[in-house]
Amino acid sequence: MEVVIVPDAKAGGELIAEAMAQLLRRKPDALLGVATGSTPLPIYQALTAKVRAGEVDASRARIAQLDEYVGLPTGHPESYRATVLREVVEPLGLDADAFMGPDGSAEDVQAACEAYDRALSEAGGVDLQLLGIGTDGHIGFNEPCSSIASRTRIKTLTEQTIADNARFFDGDLSQVPRHVITQGIGTILEARHLVLLATGEGKADAVAATVEGPVASVVPASALQLHPHATVVVDEGAASKLKLTQYFRHTFANKPEWQGL
Ligand code: F6R
Repeated sequence: MEVVIVPDAKAGGELIAEAMAQLLRRKPDALLGVATGSTPLPIYQALTAKVRAGEVDASRARIAQLDEYVGLPTGHPESYRATVLREVVEPLGLDADAFMGPDGSAEDVQAACEAYDRALSEAGGVDLQLLGIGTDGHIGFNEPCSSIASRTRIKTLTEQTIADNARFFDGDLSQVPRHVITQGIGTILEARHLVLLATGEGKADAVAATVEGPVASVVPASALQLHPHATVVVDEGAASKLKLTQYFRHTFANKPEWQGL
């Protein structure tokens, strides 16, 4: 995988937004897979700025959601559907029908998961999938020991993830849903380009295990090593436990040669 160390979260957001802009310039109706949480917000802000400045036309872009809480009432502001509409779809000036995501309020959750996997394939597959990473190494909500071949399905969050996400629910652990629908690792690996952004020292252990450890389901993000085009963008904090930084800093110095960026 390609690892790029950037000075800070803003630089990471700018870099990845430019990769998305380049994709949209050559494929205006690209299917962009988006993640939620705090980490990708600088990406969405930078991409929105590019669109508003006329640097890229995103009017035909399509947006696919990575995961969703199960059981939140429709329209709950912390549902991932509401979050993606607020942070991505509306700022980019897209219609809600440019957006697709799993149905977290479906009565038959398993059928909703299978339908979402099918819908992604029928849409031609995800061109660029943004990913964050959990402090426990999860991608999407594929918690440790998720099968690397897994498809979109229901998962139970770990206590660590519930604690990490309580900040979106006024710090109240009891308000964090216990279950989620997430694209499986196998589903995620079908995207044409995976771009993971990690910022802050709190992600340093997970990043080191992902990049320099073995491929192992106990570190779900390590599955990126199996993908032919995976890019991991980290700030200094998230890079602080990597050992091979001399190579990764070299990559940053040779910006024009970055594969796909
Ligand atoms: C959210 C998602 C999660 C987050 C991860 C990191 O759609 O897929 O994997 O990316 O939990 O969250 P933040 O960015 O809030 O630290």
